[in-house]
Amino acid sequence: MKTIDELLAEGVSGQRVFVRADLNVPLDGTTITDDGRIRAVVPTVKALADAGARVVVASHLGRPKGAPDPAFSLAPAAARLGELLGAEVAFATDTVGDSATATVAGLTDGQVAVIENLRFNAGETSKDDAERGAFADRLAALADVYVGDGFGAVHRKQASVFDLPARLPHAAGYLIATEVGVLRKLTDDVKRPYVVALGGAKVSDKLGVIDHLLEKADRILIGGGMAYTFLKAQGHEVGISLLQEDQVPAVLEYLERAKERGVEFVLPVDVLVSDKFPDLKTKAPAHPTTVAADAIPADEEGLDIGPETRKLYASKLADAGTVFWNGPMGVFEHPDYAEGTKAVAQALVDSPAFTVVGGGDSAAAVRTLGFDEKAFGHISTGGGASLEYLEGKTLPGLAALED
Ligand code: 3PG
Repeated sequence: MKTIDELLAEGVSGQRVFVRADLNVPLDGTTITDDGRIRAVVPTVKALADAGARVVVASHLGRPKGAPDPAFSLAPAAARLGELLGAEVAFATDTVGDSATATVAGLTDGQVAVIENLRFNAGETSKDDAERGAFADRLAALADVYVGDGFGAVHRKQASVFDLPARLPHAAGYLIATEVGVLRKLTDDVKRPYVVALGGAKVSDKLGVIDHLLEKADRILIGGGMAYTFLKAQGHEVGISLLQEDQVPAVLEYLERAKERGVEFVLPVDVLVSDKFPDLKTKAPAHPTTVAADAIPADEEGLDIGPETRKLYASKLADAGTVFWNGPMGVFEHPDYAEGTKAVAQALVDSPAFTVVGGGDSAAAVRTLGFDEKAFGHISTGGGASLEYLEGKTLPGLAALED
C-alpha cells in the first residue's frame, strides 16, 4: 500500500487530489454534535494542501436514497473542515455535476474543496458494478490522484471507496495508516489479558466479531441493548427490553464455545429499568429503578447496566493488557442512563492497558461525555469498519489501495 508520504515525496503540486474521507458526523439539524471524524482527516488534507495539491474532499453522510436531500448535506462538515484547517474551503453543491466541475476547476494550488454527499448519486452505493463504475468514471474526471482516508467506510464496496482507486494512481492517507496499524496490534500482537467490552443495540451486528474474538480474547464483557438477548439465552425474562429472539440459539452456542475455550463471558448482574424509553430531546428525568438482571419486571425495559455491574466491569478491565471496546453500555445520550458507559470509559482511562475504542457510538460517547481523548490508546473513527477488520474480513476500501 503506497503511503501518503511516498506520494508527497513524488510531488503533488498542481495536481488534483481526490481525498475520500469519512465525514459522516452526527448532526442535530445543521449542528455537528461530534466532529471527531472531521478532525481525523485534517492531517492528510493539510499535508496535501501544504504540498501545493488542489484537494477535493469527498464523503458520504447518512443514508440518503441516491438523490439530493438537504437533511444530509455535507455543507456543515465542509464549513467545520475550513475552521479546522484555518483556510477557506470551497463547497460544490453536487457530486459530479456543473458545480463540482466548476469548483474543482476553480481551485488553485494548495486550495481545498468539498463536494456534496456522494450518496446523492445512486451510483455510489449501487450493487450493480456497471452503475457504480459509471459514477466512479465521473468522479475520476475530477482528479489526477486518489488518497483513501475514509477509514469508517472501507468496509463498503462503494464507488468512491472501491471502484475509484482502480481508476487513478492511489495512496493511503494518514488516518487509514494509523487505524490499520492499531487494528493489526489487536490481531497479531496482543498483550494479555485481552479484554473486550461489547455493547450497542443489536446482537446481530456483533455476532461475526464475537465469533472471531472467541479465538482471540481472554474475557468478553457484554452491555447495551444486546445484553438482553444474552440474558434471555440464559433463561431470564427481560420484560420489554430490546430482544432479538431469533439470535438466542447463536448466542447460546457462543456461551458454550466460550466455556470450552476458557474465555470468560461476563454479563450484567443488575440493570436500570423503566417502563418507557427516555426523552432524548428534553432529557426530562427518567427516574429509573435498579433491579437484578434476572428480575426485570414484565412491563419494564433495561436501559443501562446497574451499579454492581459497573463495579464488576471496572474490576474485569483493571488487569487487562489490551482492551477493545465497541458499543455503549446503555442509552448514554440521556444522563440517567449514561453511568454504565461512563464507568467503562473511566476503567479504560484508569487502565495501563493498550486501549482501543472502536468507533461509532462509543467514540462519540467518549467525547460527548467529556473524556480526554488522549487518555485512550486509540479512538477509531470506524465502527463497522473496525469490527469487520477484527472479524478477519477483506475490506474493499483497503484491498483497493493495496495494488
Ligand atoms: C459509519 O458511520 O460507520 C460509516 O460512515 C459508514 O456508514 P454506513 O454504515 O452508512 O455505510
